[in-house]
Amino acid sequence: MTDPGTLTAWRELVRTRTAPAPVPLVPEITTWQATDLTPLWHATSAELARYDASPFWAFPWAGGQALARHLLDHPELVRGRRVLDFATGSGLVGIAAAKAGAAEVVGADVAPFCEAVVPMNAGLNGVSLELRLEDLLGRPLAGFDLVVAGDVFYEQPFAARALAWFRALARQGVRVLAGDPGRLYTPREGMADLASYEVPVSLEIEERPIMRTWVLEVQPA
Ligand SMILES: C[S@@+](CC[C@H](N)C(=O)[O-])C[C@H]1O[C@@H](n2cnc3c(N)ncnc32)[C@H](O)[C@@H]1O
Repeated sequence: MTDPGTLTAWRELVRTRTAPAPVPLVPEITTWQATDLTPLWHATSAELARYDASPFWAFPWAGGQALARHLLDHPELVRGRRVLDFATGSGLVGIAAAKAGAAEVVGADVAPFCEAVVPMNAGLNGVSLELRLEDLLGRPLAGFDLVVAGDVFYEQPFAARALAWFRALARQGVRVLAGDPGRLYTPREGMADLASYEVPVSLEIEERPIMRTWVLEVQPA
């Protein structure tokens, strides 16, 4: 757990360096974002290095946006279910699950900054999420019906560990849905396509403004 003084400073950084903005593909959800007016990723990198050199939480990633859209449009996937939003970042997918009627939503991430920003984003949207700041990969997972993961296949070791864990969970009967724009390390096999969306993204983090992005269900094998 982060000490209260540091958490206060992080919240202040969120308030001064980002702004609440609707998520492009999911405008019914608002999160604190690095916008054109607050170019957090580049302009404040020196300042951020003291806090969090990679503010993943400041952007709604393509995978998270597609998954959040899908959950809101198909609430039967989450209604009454216990949902883990793995690699929650801003909390976007977990917020969508809560709004779509999940019985319980837990966000998990390894970035300490999430402790500041996820409750802020949940509050903006009138929901609350429990947060687990730990690396759950490879560990047994009890008490969840559905795992959702937005944009986690962007880096090789992380993608491989995540996929192995997802498949193990699927073999145990847990539904695992991933939102993904076809990254380099996205698994090409053993995934069922449920839907795809054209997702507007920030040129601060991507090379093109619109990315086709899939909602994939992880198959057990
Ligand atoms: C590209 S961001 C996606 C964030 C969010 N799901 C979305 O789609 O907007 C990837 C996230 O994975 C998190 N992450 C990296 N390694 C992780 C791990 N072992 N367990 C949980 N989260 C992890 C990062 O901290 C970051 O928040």
